[in-house]
Amino acid sequence: MLTDSHCHLDRLDLSPYNDDLGAALNAARERGVERFLCIGIDIKNFPYLIDITKKISDVYLTAGIHPMEFNDGPVEFPEEGLAGWLEQAGQTETVVGIGETGLDYYYSSDAIEAQQQSFVTHLQVAGKLNKPVVVHTRDARDDTIRLIREYGNLDSAGVLHCFTEDWEMAKKGMDLNFYISFSGIITFKNAHTLREVVEKVPLERILVETDSPWLAPVPYRGKSNEPKNVVEVARCIAEIKGVSYEQVCEQTGQNFARLFRLRGLERENRQNV
Ligand code: NI
Repeated sequence: MLTDSHCHLDRLDLSPYNDDLGAALNAARERGVERFLCIGIDIKNFPYLIDITKKISDVYLTAGIHPMEFNDGPVEFPEEGLAGWLEQAGQTETVVGIGETGLDYYYSSDAIEAQQQSFVTHLQVAGKLNKPVVVHTRDARDDTIRLIREYGNLDSAGVLHCFTEDWEMAKKGMDLNFYISFSGIITFKNAHTLREVVEKVPLERILVETDSPWLAPVPYRGKSNEPKNVVEVARCIAEIKGVSYEQVCEQTGQNFARLFRLRGLERENRQNV
């Protein structure tokens, strides 16, 4: 079951679809995408995302604050603080995971402490709620692994999303029970090293994602990305691993369901509106 395990539905460019999110999702469904995980990255848009996921049965949700949100100065939390907000948000019916959280030292070093504090809080709340955590990591390999090891719940684990690091980091993540999610970056011409990582990570540990609206795969590079393009990511993995496209869809879909514990959560009784 082809699943876009990471998309930001509140940020998509819907102009080709007359501002209709349903039409963008239909375009993906027509290409065989059967499930979507919409990733929350701020407090402001979260109520809108709850609204979407309550109405559309093949869209699941996560709750979190992106590490880059801290790069522009302190983030304002509601009265109950980050932990309180996350705990409450994390218990929303359609929320299957905590994040996007993590560490990104690429642009700014001023925010490192705030990013780390937030990451630790996300890991702790995820552990408490027994939900997997969606982790963004860039230029922060050692700290990411160290904090997961120290504060993460290895049972509920999580995913290193939009993976662009090396094999050593992938291995460390898998040793902590994490899945590795690949985006359209693996289709980029110069991504040889990353494709070698794809080759080595067992298909049983892989998820596929778009990270839309960002990082459109070849041949859409430079355009706004959307969930329908997860097909190109799955195809690329099939090619690298020398397995069928169907096998990649099937296995990564099963991995997704296992990580986010969808059994019993598949909401047959919910209707698309
Ligand atoms: Ni993201």
